[in-house]
Formats: sequence, C-alpha cells, structure tokens
Amino acid sequence: MKIRVLEPGELDATRDVRSRSFGPFSDEEWEASLRYTRPSLEAGRQFAGFDGGRVVATGRLHDLTQWWHGRPVSMAGVGGITVAPEERGRGLGRALMTDLLERCAEFGHSLSMLYPATTWLYRSLGWEHAGGQHKIDIPTEALRSVGAERVPVRRAGPDDAAEVAAVIGRVHRAARDCGPIGWAEAYWRVFLAAEQEFSYLADDGFLSFRWTDSKTALEVTRLVASSERTLRALWAIVGSGSSIAATVHACVAPMDAALWLLRERDVDIVRRNQWMLRVVDAPAAIEARGYPAGVTAEAPLLIDDPQRPANSGHWRLVVRDGEGRLERSAEHPHAVRLGAGGLAGLYAGVPVASLRCSGLLGGGNADALSAAFAATPFSLDYF
Ligand SMILES: CC(C)(COP(=O)(O)OP(=O)(O)OC[C@H]1O[C@@H](n2cnc3c(N)ncnc32)[C@H](O)[C@@H]1OP(=O)(O)O)[C@@H](O)C(=O)NCCC(=O)NCCS
Repeated sequence: MKIRVLEPGELDATRDVRSRSFGPFSDEEWEASLRYTRPSLEAGRQFAGFDGGRVVATGRLHDLTQWWHGRPVSMAGVGGITVAPEERGRGLGRALMTDLLERCAEFGHSLSMLYPATTWLYRSLGWEHAGGQHKIDIPTEALRSVGAERVPVRRAGPDDAAEVAAVIGRVHRAARDCGPIGWAEAYWRVFLAAEQEFSYLADDGFLSFRWTDSKTALEVTRLVASSERTLRALWAIVGSGSSIAATVHACVAPMDAALWLLRERDVDIVRRNQWMLRVVDAPAAIEARGYPAGVTAEAPLLIDDPQRPANSGHWRLVVRDGEGRLERSAEHPHAVRLGAGGLAGLYAGVPVASLRCSGLLGGGNADALSAAFAATPFSLDYF
C-alpha cells in the first residue's frame, strides 16, 4: 500500500471504502460532508492508501488547536480512518496510523486527538484515553425562564466566521478549559452557512442549535459564554422553543455552569464519547499548555516513545508560575518512567495514582505532577 495526499479531484474515489466502513452516504450527505472536507483537502490533509489505482485506506488530519488550561496548543484531529473490509487484519491500519503520526509531526502539531471506534490500534501507537464529549437531555421547559435580562445577541452568518472563532477562544481561555477544540475560520464559514444550523453571537458567548428527532427536539451543539448574563440569555433562547420542542439534547462540559443554572437538578450526563490524546512533540506540548498558578512541580522523567524517538530519553520536567518546560537532562536513578500513553494520560490530567496502577507510569516520585496537570478534559465536537 502506498499512502499519499489526495488530490482535489480524487475525493470521490474514497466514497466506496468509506461507505463500506461507516455505512452508505446518500448523495445529499456526501455533498454536505464535502463542504466540510474541502478546506482540509485543499490544505493537503486528506490521505489515502492505494493498491495500484485502488483506494484501500483513508484518513485525514484536521488542523486544530486544543485548549489546555486556557492555552491553545497545536493539534491534529485524526478522522475518517478506514481500511477496505477485504484488506483488514493484515497491518494496513497500523501502517496508515504510523504514517499519519509522522505527518502530524511534519505539520508541526504538538498533539493529536481522535475518537476511537476501536482502541487497541491507537493505544499501541501512543494515543491514550484522555477526555470525553458529554451529552445531556434537558426538558426544554426548564430552560424557558433562566434568562434574567436581555443581552445584545444577533444571528451569526458566514461573514462572522472569524469573530465566532475568536469569541469561542476567549471563552475557553477565560475558563482555563482543558480539551475543547478551536476550529479555523474556514470551518466556521462552512458551518455558519449550513441551513440546518441556527447560530447566535454575543460579545462573550456563542450558541448553535439544530432541530432533531423529526423536529420534536432541539440539539444544542455548542453553547459557551463567559458571563452569567450571557449564559442565561443564550439558554433562554433555546428554552423559548418549549412549546414545540419538548426536549433539548445538549453537548456540554462535565462541569458546565448550565448544570447549576437550572432550578431542578434533574439532568445527568447521559452519553459520553471517549476521545484519545497523543503527545506528538513532548517539549513543545508541555511548553504550550497552561498550568494552575501557584502550583510548582519538578521531576526527572525517562520517556520511551519508539514511534517518536525525539520524545524518548531523559528529561527534567518543571512546572512553575503557570508555565511548564521539558529540558534534556542526564540520566537520573529515580526518574519517573513513562511511555507515550503514560505521557498522554499525564498531560490530560489522569491522576498519577491511576497511571501508576494501570502500568502507564513507574519509578520515581511523581505525586506533585497530579496537581500540575489536574484537568477534567472535555470536547464539544465530534469528528
Ligand atoms: C479499524 C480498522 C481501520 C483497522 O484496520 P486493519 O487494517 O484491520 O488494522 P491492522 O490489521 O493494522 O491491525 C492493527 C491492530 O489493531 C487491532 N485491531 C484491528 N481492528 C480491530 C478491531 N476491530 N477491534 C479490535 N482490535 C482491532 C489488530 O488486532 C492489530 O493489533 P495487533 O497488531 O496487536 O494484533 C479497520 O478495521 C476499519 O476500517 N474498520 C471500520 C472503520 C473503523 O472502525 N474505523 C476506525 C474509526 S476510529
């Protein structure tokens, strides 16, 4: 199999293998997916494995940022991984992912994230369970009266793409969020033009929802705000649909302020999609991430990362004054030992005790690292 970048005219050649992997696409669904795919195709981020002229594998790398304690870190979102059914079980999937990991580094991404349909393939190459996308159901009526005052809010269209990206970024920065994704302006331009998405923009917040369940429910795909008044105003817009839509399905953070807005707490997390993280460039990822102010931690590390040898070896990890750095160091007899999976888990805030007990971390004293990397990572997107 030869893996290469897809040319703009070649995307239709992947439809057959993608249909046999994820189920058939109607023409309308395929056209809609092409609108979102085009920016990454033009950026040379759509890949296929060829056997002669035949497409036998596919994959893409979205150009994203991911917020870690309120700081944007360059991240490759892996999606659309397929191998033709008749070719599976012969190592093509592993060859494809190994190739894509290399390309993540070539693109200059510090991190990579993916939603796994099966995990072993990815775990064995250094992606590890890190966070979740959480969806809740809320009775629409419960939202109707949460808005205390009117806030300037307007419908958002394609020309607002840059502002939408900026507002969402400011919200995640202010909240010191861990895990949410930042899409580029090109994505928002497509999203905000889609006729089934209804989007609203405030100075410090953004809402998008669509109708679902045969138009008996609303699906809030994103509602983020920095202030209580904007949060209330945006949820009240959703709640105003209660006479037609009985239920709201919403994608929220696990500690989303919305969960504390409601008079009755009859909402619980109902669905969780697990996502995995891979540290592609360890020093760059550690440096770009944010950390809680007032937490100081220092530890010698021994990283073993056969797929990304530049991450391997002896390091000194220092976190101080909200900044982190990873410096080359001499061998240390009590170094904390990590593979790529352990490093991803640590980065994502998995407590050191959990990493140790699951065999992902060993050696030295790493207790102070739990406080430095503490996080409950989430995502508001699926790709
Ligand atoms: C998942 C998929 C890409 C794997 O491709 P593949 O060519 O069969 O994978 P490989 O032969 O390289 O297998 C790599 C490893 O993953 C494991 N693996 C592959 N498919 C698996 C599955 N469905 N469940 C559990 N493990 C699996 C293999 O056992 C192998 O592990 P090993 O080397 O330790 O034995 C392929 O089955 C596929 O296209 N599935 C349908 C679409 C899909 O699920 N895509 C993934 C979306 S995240």
